[in-house]
Amino acid sequence: MKNEQNSRKNLYKCPVCKDTGFIIKEVEGSQPIMQRCKCQEIEIAKKIWIKAGINPEQAKQTFSSYKIYNDITKYAKDTAIKYYKDFENIKKDRHNSIAFLGQVGSGKTHLSLALAVNFLEKKRISVVYMPYRDVITSIKQNMLDKEYYAKQLSKYQTAKVLLIDDLYKGKITESDINIMFEIVNYRYLNYLPIIVSSEFTIERLLNFDEAVGSRIYEMCKKYIVQIEGKENNYRLREE
Ligand SMILES: Nc1ncnc2c1ncn2[C@@H]1O[C@H](COP(=O)(O)OP(=O)(O)O)[C@@H](O)[C@H]1O
Ligand SMILES: [Mg+2]
Ligand SMILES: [Zn+2]
Repeated sequence: MKNEQNSRKNLYKCPVCKDTGFIIKEVEGSQPIMQRCKCQEIEIAKKIWIKAGINPEQAKQTFSSYKIYNDITKYAKDTAIKYYKDFENIKKDRHNSIAFLGQVGSGKTHLSLALAVNFLEKKRISVVYMPYRDVITSIKQNMLDKEYYAKQLSKYQTAKVLLIDDLYKGKITESDINIMFEIVNYRYLNYLPIIVSSEFTIERLLNFDEAVGSRIYEMCKKYIVQIEGKENNYRLREE
């Protein structure tokens, strides 16, 4: 009997609510109440991530899973959390954005995603995730279709918060810069925040293109995390 029960239990994705999405809670001296099951919160969260362009694996990169192991990682995490806490007060300001720059593998994407997931889940602010290289490639492939091009661009221009991940990764062409200018300048003019990660320092970003670089700098200047040195590559770290 026990075995039979167990095997039946396994037929459900969620044995707690038997996939109904609700649980009935007995309340002493009163009517039982219907409650949304925990599994639904996860399902709802997943839908929110996917809409933002973030996959559930990426959403595991949270503040709590980001380890502090030296001054730089402490500074990086503190700055990200400070930005999150300040956000309501600064979101319409000139300096309403944050940048994680420098060393590969130092957790720039990790902290950017941690911010995005918090915005999405706790503040219900719609973030759009823009993996720079994939997006720029796709936009360029569709440049001849003016209507589609404008539509794609506008998604990144008008997002409440835009996460540009790995800006200027790969070989950069004139049209890459032009596309980035259209996106960044629109956001700059409309005071729309960005979270940006890039292997390049501010100086290098300015060298690639001053118009794009200087706008990013101005938007992010209160919250810039610049990480240098291979010792900060988490993947190369010895336990
Ligand atoms: N301080 C840290 N604590 C825990 N995991 C980290 C930390 N820094 C980086 N990682 C992990 O190392 C990997 C590389 O980090 P990532 O954010 O992709 O680096 P970057 O974007 O700077 O190249 C990811 O799996 C990330 O979760
Ligand atoms: Mg990265
Ligand atoms: Zn359930």
